[in-house]
Amino acid sequence: MGNRRPLIAGNWKMYKTCSEAVETARQLVKLTAAAADVDVMIAPPFTALSVVSEVVKDSNVFLGAQNLFWEKEGAFTGQISAAMLISTGCRHVIIGHSERRQYFGETDETVNKKIRSAIKNDLIPVFCVGETENERESNQTFTVLDKQLHNGLEGFSAGDLETLVIAYEPVWAIGTGKTATSDQAQETHQFLRSLVDKRFGNVLAKSIRILYGGSVKPNNIAELMAMADIDGALVGGASLSAEMFSQIVLYKE
Ligand code: PGA
Repeated sequence: MGNRRPLIAGNWKMYKTCSEAVETARQLVKLTAAAADVDVMIAPPFTALSVVSEVVKDSNVFLGAQNLFWEKEGAFTGQISAAMLISTGCRHVIIGHSERRQYFGETDETVNKKIRSAIKNDLIPVFCVGETENERESNQTFTVLDKQLHNGLEGFSAGDLETLVIAYEPVWAIGTGKTATSDQAQETHQFLRSLVDKRFGNVLAKSIRILYGGSVKPNNIAELMAMADIDGALVGGASLSAEMFSQIVLYKE
């Protein structure tokens, strides 16, 4: 994986009240205190960001959000801006998760605006792409990923994308217990890196981190991380337990 620093990120989705989130974050900080040479991030629901921020502030666990809205401020009931996320202590933000694309009308165009807003406000975007089962079965995986990447990153220069993280999450592997094999994942990661190379050049292609997501568990993380183009994981279900998530973070031990 070259000299890219691994990132293990937890997406808590719509789980955990404030007190549950604080409890899990406390345990996680303890269990991962010894983690070296790896970035750790958790993305609790918006409502728990501030309280979790207090828990992780002097630890090596970074705080992330699961979404944002691109406008600076205004009459946009229910939306949260990049500046608001920064004010809670967030450093990362997940953008374009397949559940948002599937249930909440997220498109490549809205993803593009959100990435722009994140970068402008110094948030690290974790930009999600991935094909559905039908698309994989009809051999459209690479076409779909090419389009998502192209449209999501339309109008950016390599310099804009220095901090960007890509998360490859095959939709058929999310929450299903079906994982892409490490060879399947590697093949796709290599393809994504080649797309970055083609559009933004070799320097960014070499430094950009590409995470794998979809049923990552303590028992498959090491195999995935052994692949040349897999630089970390975006973990859903298994990140809800501090015990299990810390085993994933400490995959080298
Ligand atoms: P999962 O979710 O680990 O539960 O499959 C991954 C994700 O949605 O980020």
